[in-house]
Amino acid sequence: MNLIFFGPPGAGKGTQSQQVQQIYGIPQISTGDMLREARTAKSPLGLEAEKFMSEGKLVPDSVIVSLMDERLKQKDCNKGFILDGFPRTLEQASALKEMLKAQGKKIDCVVNIEVNEEELVARLTGRRQCEKCKKAYHVLYSPPKQEGVCDVCASKLFQRDDDQERTIRQRLKVYVDKTQPVINFYKQEKILESINGSGEVALILKKIEKILESRSQGHS
Ligand code: AP5
Repeated sequence: MNLIFFGPPGAGKGTQSQQVQQIYGIPQISTGDMLREARTAKSPLGLEAEKFMSEGKLVPDSVIVSLMDERLKQKDCNKGFILDGFPRTLEQASALKEMLKAQGKKIDCVVNIEVNEEELVARLTGRRQCEKCKKAYHVLYSPPKQEGVCDVCASKLFQRDDDQERTIRQRLKVYVDKTQPVINFYKQEKILESINGSGEVALILKKIEKILESRSQGHS
């Protein structure tokens, strides 16, 4: 299945898509992780993206679209994929449709995860992430067994520099202005499935699995 996990910063796109990738054996493609890796490597892409990311703004569409065009042509996407953090503007959504059409593919389902703003801020200010396997933790809601160390691969956890309250509020504003309109694009395509993303991670995963099962059997 070709999937999009959609929602505001902190909705749980990364948390849920990491689990779904294991269940379905399809790659999770996070534009945020790709940009952070480019930034760490100090590549031209990373240096270009840095100034937008640190201010909680979107990286220009042209940059993201060519990055994704390359990525989606890779072999591991042949059996399906989960997009996490893309598309984020109407321009990106249209470009995605065209690039998939050129490969004879389409998006099967967009899972839109809804969470209220104050919960999003609480989740993001307490988030810690593994620098290697990218697993997300929360200092209160899902702490690692040993402070600062990933349960899965024992690598160090870090706090993202855009997870400061001021930048989080800016990211949420950008979401409302630029990204939320994409919801209507997928409503019109009749592939949008919205879920309440508050509650236990495992329960939300169950809801997503149910939706995907139903979609893969050809009815919503
Ligand atoms: P990106 O990395 O994509 O960040 P984001 O969209 O802001 O989303 P997050 O990763 O913050 O949230 P998430 O929904 O994945 O939540 P998570 O599962 O981690 O983008 C960063 C930047 O890169 C952007 O600002 C932009 O500059 C640039 N960028 C990226 N893509 C771009 C694009 N397409 N176009 C232009 N620019 C782009 O969970 C969050 C926390 O909550 C964790 O601590 C987790 O443990 C906890 N949590 C999760 N689920 C639950 C639950 N059910 N209950 C309690 N806690 C929970």
